[in-house]
Amino acid sequence: MYRSHSCGELRTSDINKEVTLSGWVQKVRDKGFMIWVDLRDRYGITQLIFDEERTSSDVVEKAKTLGREFVIQVKGTVIERESKNPNMPTGDIEILVSELNILNESHTPPFTIEDETDGGEDIRMKYRYLDIRRNPVKDSLMFRHQVAMKVRNYLSEADFIEVETPYLIKSTPEGARDFVVPSRMNEGQFYALPQSPQTFKQLLMVGGMDKYFQIVKCFRDEDLRADRQPEFTQIDCEMAFVEQEDILNIFEGLTRHLIKDIKGQEISDFPRMTYDEAMRTYGNDKPDIRFGMKFGELNEVAQHKEFKVFNDAELVVGIAVPGGASYTRKEIDKLIDWVRRPQVGALGMVYVKCNEDGSFKSSVDKFYDQEDLSKWAETTGAKAGDLICILSGQGNKVRGQLSALRMELAERLGLRNPEEFAPLWVVDFPLLEWDEDTERYHAMHHPFTSPKPEDIPLLDSKPGDVRANAYDLVLNGNEIGGGSIRIHDKETQALMFDHLGFTPEEAKEQFGFLMDAFQYGAPPHGGIAFGFDRLVAILGGQETIRDFIAFPKNNNGRDVMIDAPANIDQGQLKELHIQLDL
Ligand code: AMO
Repeated sequence: MYRSHSCGELRTSDINKEVTLSGWVQKVRDKGFMIWVDLRDRYGITQLIFDEERTSSDVVEKAKTLGREFVIQVKGTVIERESKNPNMPTGDIEILVSELNILNESHTPPFTIEDETDGGEDIRMKYRYLDIRRNPVKDSLMFRHQVAMKVRNYLSEADFIEVETPYLIKSTPEGARDFVVPSRMNEGQFYALPQSPQTFKQLLMVGGMDKYFQIVKCFRDEDLRADRQPEFTQIDCEMAFVEQEDILNIFEGLTRHLIKDIKGQEISDFPRMTYDEAMRTYGNDKPDIRFGMKFGELNEVAQHKEFKVFNDAELVVGIAVPGGASYTRKEIDKLIDWVRRPQVGALGMVYVKCNEDGSFKSSVDKFYDQEDLSKWAETTGAKAGDLICILSGQGNKVRGQLSALRMELAERLGLRNPEEFAPLWVVDFPLLEWDEDTERYHAMHHPFTSPKPEDIPLLDSKPGDVRANAYDLVLNGNEIGGGSIRIHDKETQALMFDHLGFTPEEAKEQFGFLMDAFQYGAPPHGGIAFGFDRLVAILGGQETIRDFIAFPKNNNGRDVMIDAPANIDQGQLKELHIQLDL
């Protein structure tokens, strides 16, 4: 028996017990006549004491050889500590060791295995297994497990069945690039790894499964960011005989349950907002509604004077920054530099200080009088003491730029409290999106999303105005879920493919299996997928998903620990019928 107790378990009530513990050496303090060792495992740390007077000399000698991260087993007696440590759950006791077994030695680790480590990101990624021994990473993985259990239980209780779908499939049209896998047995042909189980879950509905879910890996070859990994996990769900309202209610329930169960918070308000409203009010389809700073469109009150920049702009739009009137000239200049960075891309920024005495001071005083500026304040909701920041230019571009500024300022002002949870449904997404590169429309969500029936007549005349039965779940400014009611009849699906520029032959070639299935009694159905990594990270108070993934990839999509991707040998390539032309 390697252990009778874990390293986080023993208390004063265990004093005088004979115990066996196993774990890693966190720290050794050798005072000559007395050696203390902190022994660590997943459950905690227990202090061991080797004492020349009470421990046999060979055991003491062996203890002197211990180094950090050695794996050891000890037997001993639980005793009361002389100097207690109230900061540790086991801080009242220690183990007087009688037997020491070195199970494995260890090189000195390349960074300290402490909550605050001296190791940088790169080295910790390379030795991720050591990083996992640290509390912050270990706790994040345990937290992830907890959330997964709660999701599984909730959905199982609600009659959902977890079904596994294949990883070696044909390309799914989810918008990103596929990772592909060459087939040895089918020369020149490739599988694709699923970007999501989308088509399979729809086929499960045709198969009568009624309510499906799966906590499932998805693969997308896209540029990486803090909230994106090339392989990530979804809570993927689909239901038959449902309308949008049913799906929103069930997954609102799941979200409320998780926030209540994990964070102890009751969500009082679970608002819904149309895509158009989100774009107009926040410049963004995933607005963070924990704070205000809503957009005020100023065209009407700013385009009647001699200021050419505003007169020439498609959109003049501003936000009120709480307390911003006290910013110095230098601080405001810095803000202007910030919006002009290439990542944001604004040409400049006009500002108005709303003074405490009710007067206004702006960077465009030459063109606008106090009455004009008071209208701007009214439109942006600015109060005395606020600063109005105004951008202008092409509609969607400016909205994006002002949205970036809004988020940056909120961050600086501490308005993005990670312990506050503000979920939001964004509904009525456009069905189609114009793609400048290919000069044609493509599906904003995916080609199986159903248009709103009342908008179908617009498909020919104004395709960009057709709304979809599609929705996103946004939490604290992050898109954590997205889904739609699907098309379930062959005619509408064919109409969609036609509008997406597929010939009937191309549609048959790519999605023949789905269109075939729709001929055999496909029920009305719809679903959603949550980004599980994102959900866990946000519930854990963070926005970087890497910390909640055991073995993540770096920003170049590499696993630096196992050094992947890597070359494969000629023989393997030949077997796969691949010739590299490097
Ligand atoms: P969608 O493409 O919106 O929908 O994906 C669902 C959710 O998955 C998360 N997500 C990611 N998380 C981490 N890294 C990535 N690279 C990444 N890409 C997406 C997001 C997103 O909201 N089949 C549809 C769902 C449906 O229609 O039911 C789908 O995959 O949080």
